[in-house]
Amino acid sequence: MHILHDQPAEFYSTFRLKTRLATVIEVDNVTELARLDITSSPLVLGEGSNTIFLEPLSRPIIRFTGTAITESWLHADKCLLHVEAGYNWHQLVSDTVDRQLWGIENLALIPGSVGAAPVQNIGAYGIEFADVCVYVDFFSWRTRSIQRLTPEQCQFGYRDSIFKQQLSGDGIIVAVGIMLSTTAKPVLSYQGLDRLAATCSINDIFDQVIATRKSKLPDYREIANCGSFFKNPVISVAEYHQLKLTYPAMPGFILADNTVKVPAAWLIDQQGLKGYRLHDVGCYLRQPLVLINYGNGTSEDLLALITLIQDKVRTAYRIHLEPEVRLLDSNGHQYV
Ligand code: EPU
Repeated sequence: MHILHDQPAEFYSTFRLKTRLATVIEVDNVTELARLDITSSPLVLGEGSNTIFLEPLSRPIIRFTGTAITESWLHADKCLLHVEAGYNWHQLVSDTVDRQLWGIENLALIPGSVGAAPVQNIGAYGIEFADVCVYVDFFSWRTRSIQRLTPEQCQFGYRDSIFKQQLSGDGIIVAVGIMLSTTAKPVLSYQGLDRLAATCSINDIFDQVIATRKSKLPDYREIANCGSFFKNPVISVAEYHQLKLTYPAMPGFILADNTVKVPAAWLIDQQGLKGYRLHDVGCYLRQPLVLINYGNGTSEDLLALITLIQDKVRTAYRIHLEPEVRLLDSNGHQYV
């Protein structure tokens, strides 16, 4: 176990606002986790690719850094991987592609740790974490033991799960179980992948996803960012038809429950905000849904930019853009 004091927040958030974190505790096994003297519930952090610290943080942060992987073959072609939460997500995708195990190749290059994947049910190019999840192991602060949750118990939704809702603050994810297959199952429905042949290899998909992401999304090591900043809003079919009368070009994807998901990037783009810069923060030129920090961005500037985007979109379309990124105040609570 490592306990670090007075840490620069830039090391723990890929948006890199400059502030301080009082305590960071790193634990790499469950035995040590059970021994920890936890008085107030610590804030759980992975690699910080979806978290922004707006203010100096007094609440202790905890990170599970164990990276062990074990595998079991349940059927001839089905492999169950048990992966500890500290493993890097993209590394896992890369390992499984090397081994020709199908299931998460469309989720290449998503930043962050394996433990963060279930929290917001990461998704891209037609696949989400829920599609391969068999279980999530959650260590509870209250019982000091691991509870194994089924996918149903995880209550996965669009960028949502029980870990963001009822179980938020109650414990930490220590491992996940995912089922992969040696049988090819290409998912090529998403724009960008639809040009691949149905007989393509897992490496073709992996390479195409990486090329597509690189062409649209900034690498956080070069330009500080936390990926898509807002969720794509979901509105009713009636509201969508109404808006189409004024904005015939507005894209929308009909969902199973008769609602429509509208691309937030389009709404922001239409407001002329592509490449918009406010002091040292702004909307990325190639994908305006990604907010970026040019280097010396401040929380004041970021909050002003968020308000400006939300106000413009609300005024034009009566649609509220909800942040997808976790924005935290000095107590580690979600900033609203
Ligand atoms: N669009 C514009 N202008 C732009 C860019 C996009 O109008 O400059 C419109 C287009 O209509 C386009 C649509 O927005 O078809 C969707 O854009 P894109 O395919 O880039 O996807 P997205 O909806 O913006 C979502 C996820 C991404 C994920 C991609 C690919 C959310 C909030 N974001 O983005 O996830 O990589 O789909 O599956 O759901 C993340 O969560 O951090 C993330 C990057």
